[in-house]
Amino acid sequence: MTQHKQLAVQALQWTGDTLRVLDQRQLPHTIAYDDYHDAAGVFQAIASMRVRGAPAIGIAAAYGVALSARLHVAANPDGWRQAVSDDIDRLAQSRPTAVNLFWALERMKNLLSQPLLNPVTEIAACAEQIHADDITANQLMGEVGADLLRGAKGVLTHCNTGALATGGIGTALGVIRSAYRRGPLKVFAGETRPWLQGARLTVWELAQDGIATTLIADSAAAWLMRSGAIDWVVVGADRIAANGDTANKIGTYSLAVLAKQHGVNFMVVAPTSTIDWSIANGQHIAIEERDPNELLPAPYLEAGSLVGAWNPVFDMTPAALISALVTERGVVFNPTEQSMGDLQ
Ligand code: MRU
Repeated sequence: MTQHKQLAVQALQWTGDTLRVLDQRQLPHTIAYDDYHDAAGVFQAIASMRVRGAPAIGIAAAYGVALSARLHVAANPDGWRQAVSDDIDRLAQSRPTAVNLFWALERMKNLLSQPLLNPVTEIAACAEQIHADDITANQLMGEVGADLLRGAKGVLTHCNTGALATGGIGTALGVIRSAYRRGPLKVFAGETRPWLQGARLTVWELAQDGIATTLIADSAAAWLMRSGAIDWVVVGADRIAANGDTANKIGTYSLAVLAKQHGVNFMVVAPTSTIDWSIANGQHIAIEERDPNELLPAPYLEAGSLVGAWNPVFDMTPAALISALVTERGVVFNPTEQSMGDLQ
């Protein structure tokens, strides 16, 4: 297995009584961690996108529950379960699309319903386990995905799917890290408008690890594919339906359509915690729409302005456009409802 040195970047640090969150809104100019001691703070950190990326959101929320237990068990010996449960419900409102959030909170809720000898320790241990499992899944997916990239000269990735978005080396970026260590690979990153996860986060994160990247405007993707420089598009996922339809950062669907047109392979990399087995297909995935102000220049924000904006921040790529889905449990080629069943 490829050895990865200690990552230069960590989105989340758990000290045992504090969750330290790297404020990704300030990158790459400023590296600043904020400390959180309660679930309300963690809710804010997720909703404001200080922490983002599906697996990282799930891990942060799990630590939010651990912080809730720390506060309520001692202060409210009779009513702490209800107080923690209320915090779980609130954390579930922080963002709608990434299923890892609901998956992690469901695990915490199940634990809460059991008899616990030492609730604070046991709930924190569950959050730590969710974090540790994500690190392991990242490593496994990195190796499996890199096997598929053997012989590729170039890849294009989208959004940020690395250490900033997960507990470990990342999903799509984990694959790219592993492949890069094995041999020459040209890495292209789309800037990912409007929040610029590619331009602000991905190229910075990879540079911290000594990996060279070429940034492109999102609108340059078709021309890049036409040039023949890339063999694969490699992306992460926020929610995958039981048939393989995949919701990911806005622009992913465009890349999949373009890849089909240009004979470029399309890889989705995600832990099985990103699969929502309760939905048959992608039509049931809630797509987050954020404030139009993220798109609109200031002059258009004035009262009476005739300029509005539509700001969906995810889209859904039909399974038929996906060449390979890489998970920690293995690869599903050309996913369908039937072949996805192997991952259950
Ligand atoms: O809005 P964000 O930045 O939270 O969106 C993140 C993405 O869409 C990532 O591509 C996805 O979570 C996969 S990350 C491992």
